Amino acid sequence: MKKITIEGNHTLSGEINISGAKNSIVALLPATILADEPVTITNVPNIKDVEATIAILQYLGSEITYQNNTIIIDNKNIQNKEIPDNLANKLRASYYFMGALLSKFKEASISYPGGCPIGKRPIDIHLNSFKKLNIDVSIENNNYHLKTNNIISNTITLAKPSVGATINILLTTAKTKTTTIINNPAKEPEINNLIEFLNKMGTNIIINKDNIIINGSSYLKSTTIQTIPDRIETGTYLIIGALLGNKLKINNINPLVNTALINKLKESNTSMTLTDSSITISKNHFIKPVNITTKEYPGFPTDLQQPFTTYLTQAMGKSTIKETIYENRFQNVKELNKLNSHINIDNNKQITINGPTKLVGNIVNSTDLRGGASLIIAGLIAEGTTTITNIEHILRGYDNIINKLKNVGAKIEIE
Ligand code: EPU
Repeated sequence: MKKITIEGNHTLSGEINISGAKNSIVALLPATILADEPVTITNVPNIKDVEATIAILQYLGSEITYQNNTIIIDNKNIQNKEIPDNLANKLRASYYFMGALLSKFKEASISYPGGCPIGKRPIDIHLNSFKKLNIDVSIENNNYHLKTNNIISNTITLAKPSVGATINILLTTAKTKTTTIINNPAKEPEINNLIEFLNKMGTNIIINKDNIIINGSSYLKSTTIQTIPDRIETGTYLIIGALLGNKLKINNINPLVNTALINKLKESNTSMTLTDSSITISKNHFIKPVNITTKEYPGFPTDLQQPFTTYLTQAMGKSTIKETIYENRFQNVKELNKLNSHINIDNNKQITINGPTKLVGNIVNSTDLRGGASLIIAGLIAEGTTTITNIEHILRGYDNIINKLKNVGAKIEIE
């Protein structure tokens, strides 16, 4: 078991380059299955979720060249095989192979996906959408078998704007001669990244204010797509900068997709300097308490709620965070309180953070990816040494986090 140790309270200055977005690349990689010619993806982050997705592609027979954050994939020899539990359970996004394989082979068989234990995370919206496209769904022993004679055109209205279901519908219909309308789709930037990729291959997908119209194409050609910058990684380092930065510069980003976080940082009295592709941020010595409610994009992202909790332990008074996306995303609170924070779980939807408290190092356990990030931030501001166990979660989603922090002055090691 790997662990991270951090000696807290060091000022951070210099530059951090943000990597490609985890939640984009885990959709772009399965989408390569649809291409009839080799395709190239650039700005690929070096994270465990990418390794796990590549392992599935290789199992299916993809020919992959991966060098310097660029992946070239040729899928001309791939076969449709059942994706077993030991491959599917490594990450949530393994379920994108349902859509990709259905579009190419009209059949997919895969075990239930993995991912962080942050709530029930059912996939009913995905399965109902498949049914609307004339796909038969059968479930046996945790294995999903999906099959169709013919994917049909239809209009699908999502019960919730699910990121995963929106992506699965895009993948399922992209390589077919159909027109599909998704009402109430998710609007996260990672979905636009996938749509850009599919359109460059030859689909005609139109994003409107309230729907997405997918005009598929039976032949999809060679192209290159750049993975967009990771807005959650960006947000995590912005929060670190607001706590410990001395002109800490976060590069290779698109500030426009972090507006909700930037507004809350500003509301809490943190100032920063923005360009089109960077933000420079310094320690806020008087953090005002603020209240957060997580929402679908462009609202405050649930994936930054846990890192922001650590920030609010330093606020001058009481703040609240209301989680509206997941039922169980406060597991980090117990661990943060071991570091001397005063956070109450009001109910499974809301916490109250009583600041400011001087955090003190201790041994804590990372229960999930963003919860783990909240503990790293806590360790960076705590007095003394903090040890974080179970860090595999963190490495699933943060590219090179130890060296990125070390390079700007943090005292952090991985064992
Ligand atoms: N939901 C259902 N039924 C479904 C699908 C979703 O009830 O069929 C519920 C979920 O249980 C959840 C809510 O709807 O309560 C939103 O789920 P959504 O489908 O939008 O999320 P996801 O696709 O499972 C992606 C990201 C998450 C991120 C969410 C919300 C990936 C691989 N994962 O998950 O990222 O929190 O969107 O933005 O893209 C993370 O990176 O730490 C992470 C958890």
